[in-house]
Amino acid sequence: MTKTFQKDEQNITLLMMNFIGKHILSATALSKEEIERILEVAKEMEPFARKEKVSDLLKGKVLATLFFEPSTRTRFSFETSMVRLGGSVISNYMMKETSSVKKRETLYDTGKVVSAFADVIVMRHPERGTVAELAKGSMVPVINAGDGPADHPTQGLLDLYTIWKQFGTLDGLTFGMVGDMKFSRVVHAECALLKHFGKSRFVFIAPEALKIPQELKEELESAGHEVLETEDLESVIGTLDVLSNTRIQEERFESHEDYEKFRGTYSISADLMVKAKDSMIVIDPLPRVDDQLKIEVDEDSRAKYFEQVTNGVAVRMALLALVMGRG
Ligand code: NCD
Repeated sequence: MTKTFQKDEQNITLLMMNFIGKHILSATALSKEEIERILEVAKEMEPFARKEKVSDLLKGKVLATLFFEPSTRTRFSFETSMVRLGGSVISNYMMKETSSVKKRETLYDTGKVVSAFADVIVMRHPERGTVAELAKGSMVPVINAGDGPADHPTQGLLDLYTIWKQFGTLDGLTFGMVGDMKFSRVVHAECALLKHFGKSRFVFIAPEALKIPQELKEELESAGHEVLETEDLESVIGTLDVLSNTRIQEERFESHEDYEKFRGTYSISADLMVKAKDSMIVIDPLPRVDDQLKIEVDEDSRAKYFEQVTNGVAVRMALLALVMGRG
């Protein structure tokens, strides 16, 4: 990766200051300059994320991870990031069952209390707006690790980082997003971040009932991007530079029967990949389920979803360093 975003020195210092003590609650709240700064610091963090170097940048600092919803990658990724920066972690991944929230403590009070222990908090919750609620009580930066279908800014950032590393730019590409456009907080975050960059084409591929929310579509269009919608992946895959796959989100449906209607709608296979450009990449936040992304695709050099895991550590190291004034 050779490209960098152009900035003067004074701007860089100002941008760093911008992050200190700040919450990272939504992708929408980040400016283009802030996104670029995060990606550039992530690049500096790569050797640490790749286990080639050690750092004590955040020695003595404590991260609290508060998870009210299942996670493998996001929680371990944040915890690894903190440990690789020389800091420590306190963690509860069953907040609903084992924290005082069970005794009806408010998220506001939980924020007050946990921020007395920790220097930074990372939280995931199944409902929209809950991370912001906890942040109101917190005296330390709070980072949103996913709030229901609303937002997942750090996944969006690591997806942009993966694209930037591959293409050296975030401008003028054709992004195909397939799966659950309605509920995928990852797609929502990707759009909110990508909207700031040069004119691109967004192709949303989803069943009618799981279409991209109208307001997101309009935001992209008014930022100058072209937006297309289709239900058919095969007919558009050959036009894409990036295929962002997201699982149909069973837990967001009212009932299992509702979910069953959409299960198996898409399947990315080696046969389908033959129709894609040689330069196209496939990204996916994972987990993969129901053969929506076949294991045989892992062999394809265009599959970037396992590289994304390491990229996620670099990006989260960058965020932790920035909000604690060490970027
Ligand atoms: C995503 C999430 O939790 O929103 N996963 C992740 O963070 N790695 C996507 C998903 O669960 O499908």
